[in-house]
Amino acid sequence: MSQRSRSVTPDPRSPKRQKLGHLTKEDFKNGIFLAPMVRSGALPTRLFALKHGATLVWGPEIIDKAILHSKREVDPVTGVVSYNGVSRAIFTTHPVEKPYFIYQMGSSDPEIAVQAAKQVMHDVSGIDLNCGCPKPFSTHSGMGAALLTNPDLLCSILTALRAAMPPEITVTAKIRLLPSQEDTLKLVERIVNTGISALTVHCRTRNMREKDRAVIERLREIVEFVEGMGKGIAVIENGDCDGWEDAKRVRRVTGASSVMIARGAESNPSCFSATPLIDIEKTLMPSYIRLCKYFDHHLGLAKFCAAQFKSQRKEVTKAQSTIIRNTLGQAKTYDDMIDFVKTWTGEDEMKEIVKAIEINCPREHRMLPSSFVSEEVNSDFTTPPGTQNPEPPTSRAPLLPNDFINDTPAFLPSAALTPTPEGITAAPSIISLRS
Ligand SMILES: Cc1cc2nc3c(=O)[nH]c(=O)nc-3n(C[C@H](O)[C@H](O)[C@H](O)COP(=O)(O)O)c2cc1C
Repeated sequence: MSQRSRSVTPDPRSPKRQKLGHLTKEDFKNGIFLAPMVRSGALPTRLFALKHGATLVWGPEIIDKAILHSKREVDPVTGVVSYNGVSRAIFTTHPVEKPYFIYQMGSSDPEIAVQAAKQVMHDVSGIDLNCGCPKPFSTHSGMGAALLTNPDLLCSILTALRAAMPPEITVTAKIRLLPSQEDTLKLVERIVNTGISALTVHCRTRNMREKDRAVIERLREIVEFVEGMGKGIAVIENGDCDGWEDAKRVRRVTGASSVMIARGAESNPSCFSATPLIDIEKTLMPSYIRLCKYFDHHLGLAKFCAAQFKSQRKEVTKAQSTIIRNTLGQAKTYDDMIDFVKTWTGEDEMKEIVKAIEINCPREHRMLPSSFVSEEVNSDFTTPPGTQNPEPPTSRAPLLPNDFINDTPAFLPSAALTPTPEGITAAPSIISLRS
C-alpha cells in the first residue's frame, strides 16, 4: 500500500468522465481483450495493454468478501484509486481505464456479490463473474469452477447482479467447458438467459491444466448456439491465443468474434498490436518500472510482472538481457534498477498512455469482422518498412493535446482523461474496422 498522503476522493462520477458512454453488448464484439489474471493483471499491465491496442481489459479476480470492508482512497498525485484492506491494497485502478475496465469477482453468494459490486461500481464499466477458476481456494467455498456444476447458484448470482446494477454497468461471466458438449450448451443457455452482456468461454475443462491444448474447436457450436438464441450476446474465446495475428486463426476456427488473451499478454502486454514490441528488455521493461515507481506500486509485484516479459530479441543481446534480468531480480528498491531504467520519468509514461488512449480509443480498436479474417490487416496496423521497433498503432499520436502538456495535477479524474466519441481522431482505417 502506498505511503503517499492520500485524499478520500470526491464523487468519482463526474459527469464529464462519462462522455464515452457506457459499454453495450456491441463493445464485446470484434474485440481483443486482456484476460483476468491474479497478480499478472495488475493496473500497470492493464494500462500498457490498453496503450498497445487491447479493446477491453479484465482485472484480476477479487473475492467478493475481500472488497467489502476496504477503504477507497485516491492518490492525489497520480489519480490511482486504491481499495485498501488492513495491510494492503486489494484492488487498484485508475480513471483512465474505467471506460474499458471489467472488474472480475469470485462469489458463491448472490447477496454478497451484489454488495461487492456496489462497492466498486463507480470505478468500473462492468462486473464479471469468475466461473472457471479450478484452484481449491476458489472451489472449496463453491466459487469459480464449482459454479459450473451448480448452475442454479451460478445463475442466481448473475440474475442478482443484473437486477442490482444500473444499466450502465454490464454483467458478464467467464466459464470453462464442461466435459460433455451437451451439458455445456445447456449451461450456456441458462447463463445467457440471465441477461448477461457477454460470455467468455475458456476452452478447457475444469480438470485440464494450462499445458493442455485448449479445445477451441468445441467453441464453434457454442457460438452458433448463442447466435441462435437471438439475444445479440458475444461469445468470447479464451485459450491459447497469443496475440493479434494469432487471433485471426482463433476466430477462423471458432467463429467467435472476440478473443481474450492471458499468458500471451503476461509475456508481452503489447501483444494486442499487429506490431508488438520486440527487444522487450529495452522497449517495455524500463517504461513499465518507471510507471510502477510513479504509481508507488508494490515493488515485488512490479518485479514479478516485469520478469514475465519475453519477446523476440533483435538489438538486445543475450548478455544484455541477462544483466537487466539479474538487476531486476536482485533489486530491493526501485532505485536499484536505475542502470537499465535510466531515468524516473513515470509521469511521462503515464502521459504517453493517456495520449495513446485519447488518440486511438481502445474501444474502437477492433478486429476485422469475421468475413474478412483471412485478409491482411490494414497497413496502418503493420510495421512500417525499415522500422526495427515501431511504435504500436495506438501510440502513433502527434504531440499531446495542450491539456496533457500543461502541468496540471496529474491524472486526477477529468474530462481529458476519458476519450469521448467527439474527441477521437481515429485514422480512417480504424473507423473502417468497426463492425
Ligand atoms: C497468472 C494467471 C492468473 C490468472 N488469474 C485468473 C483470474 O483471476 N480469473 C480468471 O477468470 N482466470 C484467471 N486466469 C486464467 C486466464 O484468464 C485464462 O483463462 C487462461 O490462462 C487461458 O488463457 P491463455 O491460454 O490465453 O493463457 C489466470 C491465468 C494466469 C496465467
